[in-house]
Amino acid sequence: MSSTSGWAAMRSFSRDGSVREHRLAPGTLRRVAALARPHRRPLAVFTALVVLDGALVAVPPLLLRHLIDDGVRTGDRSTVVVLALLVAAVALAEAGLSLVQRWLSARIGEGLIYELRSAVFEHVQRQSIGFFTRSQTGALVSRLNSDVVGAQQAFTSTAAGVLSNAVTLVAVLTAMLVLSWQITLLALVVVPAFLLPARRVGRRLAALRREAMQRNADLGERMTERFGVAGALLVKTYGDDGEESSQFRSRAAAVRDVGVRTALSSRVFFAGLTALAALATAMVYGVGGWLAISGAVTTGSLVALAALLARLYGPITGLANVQVDVMTALVSFERVFEVLDLVPAVRDPEHPRALPAGPLDVELDDVVFTYPAVSTLASLQAGGAGGPAADALEGTGERPVVRGVSLHAGAGQVVALVGRSGAGKTTLASLVARLHDVDSGSVRVGGVDVRETSQAELRRRVGVVSQDAHLFHDTVRANLLYGRADASEGDLWAALAAARADGVVRGLPEGLDTVVGERGHRLSGGEKQRVALARLLLRAPSVVVLDEATAHLDSESERAVQEALDAALVGRTSIVIAHRLSTVRSADLICVVDDGRVVERGRHEDLVARGGLYAELHRTQFSDGPVAA
Ligand SMILES: Nc1ncnc2c1ncn2[C@@H]1O[C@H](COP(=O)(O)OP(=O)(O)OP(=O)(O)O)[C@@H](O)[C@H]1O
Ligand SMILES: [Mg+2]
Repeated sequence: MSSTSGWAAMRSFSRDGSVREHRLAPGTLRRVAALARPHRRPLAVFTALVVLDGALVAVPPLLLRHLIDDGVRTGDRSTVVVLALLVAAVALAEAGLSLVQRWLSARIGEGLIYELRSAVFEHVQRQSIGFFTRSQTGALVSRLNSDVVGAQQAFTSTAAGVLSNAVTLVAVLTAMLVLSWQITLLALVVVPAFLLPARRVGRRLAALRREAMQRNADLGERMTERFGVAGALLVKTYGDDGEESSQFRSRAAAVRDVGVRTALSSRVFFAGLTALAALATAMVYGVGGWLAISGAVTTGSLVALAALLARLYGPITGLANVQVDVMTALVSFERVFEVLDLVPAVRDPEHPRALPAGPLDVELDDVVFTYPAVSTLASLQAGGAGGPAADALEGTGERPVVRGVSLHAGAGQVVALVGRSGAGKTTLASLVARLHDVDSGSVRVGGVDVRETSQAELRRRVGVVSQDAHLFHDTVRANLLYGRADASEGDLWAALAAARADGVVRGLPEGLDTVVGERGHRLSGGEKQRVALARLLLRAPSVVVLDEATAHLDSESERAVQEALDAALVGRTSIVIAHRLSTVRSADLICVVDDGRVVERGRHEDLVARGGLYAELHRTQFSDGPVAA
């Protein structure tokens, strides 16, 4: 048996056998067929080649039989030469066929990966923000990588392997039976002697592989976390080097131990396979030799049988676990389809209305909102499918976070939201940009319910700057162009100047072309917020939703941010989650949010005079800022 089929057999035997009990979602097969349809011509050619190749395997041994019986034993040199050339020709043909096969399977497979991956990416992108807060990024990325690749393997390796093994098995068995049914039977009798232990070793390997994956993930997670800037900083300031090392060592040791056990088990598997083939060959020569002496079979047949035997066990072991192989491939498809079937929580209406041109007012009318308990697939949630974490999340979402809020921001007005941490300010503001849909009540922008217009239109007209504004790992220029793709160089600098960020960018090593963000040049919190404000200015929305940074800046950056804010808010309807005294002072309306309700509203002086929650917040939250000083 060749070592590639040995590997394939081992992979197959060590697959998780529990998939056999898995019930596929209805329609999975039909959808797989629909995916295959555009590739049906290359698939047909590929199938024909696989069948031909599988059948060709039995040919060289039969040619060898003729070579010996009709050439060597009769002394016919020309027959020997012709048949040897034929054997060579078959070998070359097989090589050529395998090349064309591989080319076709790669084209079909990679094409399928490309299609599935793009489809999953585009679909995931359409999900609401709730989906992303609940999904584990790693699990999501793995859907795009391993499951998509697993699904394409169903087409190329699994289906082709099953077909090729089946054809080879039939061809080889037929040839052997014709040559000597006694020896064929003998060769088959020993098969269970291998398959039964192989299943056990396979189960063991499957468990080891699962364990290895888990251990490696632990190790990887540890490194990613400790080597990330935030984690490294924590270790530098709080960590104990010895303790860190010993924890790492114990995880690395676990990986080592699993590796040793896996190596041993797979060697047992291979040794068993090789021994079986060798023993069977000895048996064929032993019994066949007897039969040849008594004239029951010819010497050529004996040689041919031994050669055929070498091609018999590969397909048998390959097919022994076929059910698990096919199910594993189909489950990958199912997991991909599962993501594609997820209906986004926030959807565009069938006939979206345009928002009126010019300034827009914002009105919330008796809005109630609850975070949905489940906004993603269980298998994408932290903790995995049905894990303890999934259960722990069940309880959330029972209680509304926004409980009957009504407020109106006239066109061009600034409404400040203030309140204790966790009061629901960020949540309330996010409803204006329709990041979530309300349970009841309505959010209207320019008199249009946000559910009646398109999300693209909302994105154009409602600008959002979050508390910890994000910049992509890309150049400053690319980050700004994300606000408006067709902005000119002049526009960029004008926006940066208005946001008081032009000096910052000029000071960067490569100016606008400096890479910033996660692994690029680090901007300070205040600098980042100003670049984000420049991005907002480029988009020039009619409504601004702004979560002011809570971090206290020194008075100079504070002034720069304040000026940037004034530039961003002028002439725009603004909902500002305020953390600065200057913002609340100049706001047209202050809404004090407490436990999901607006408990006080008015202007700064009136609210301070009233001596309620605002007056308290004013003392504790706003009075120690640098502006107040
Ligand atoms: N994605 C989420 N899923 C479930 N609950 C959430 C989610 N985000 C926030 N919450 C809960 O909603 C409540 C309000 O949170 P929110 O972020 O709106 O408060 P906040 O007023 O902005 O607070 P802070 O001033 O600290 O930013 C909190 O109790 C929080 O735990
Ligand atoms: Mg908040």
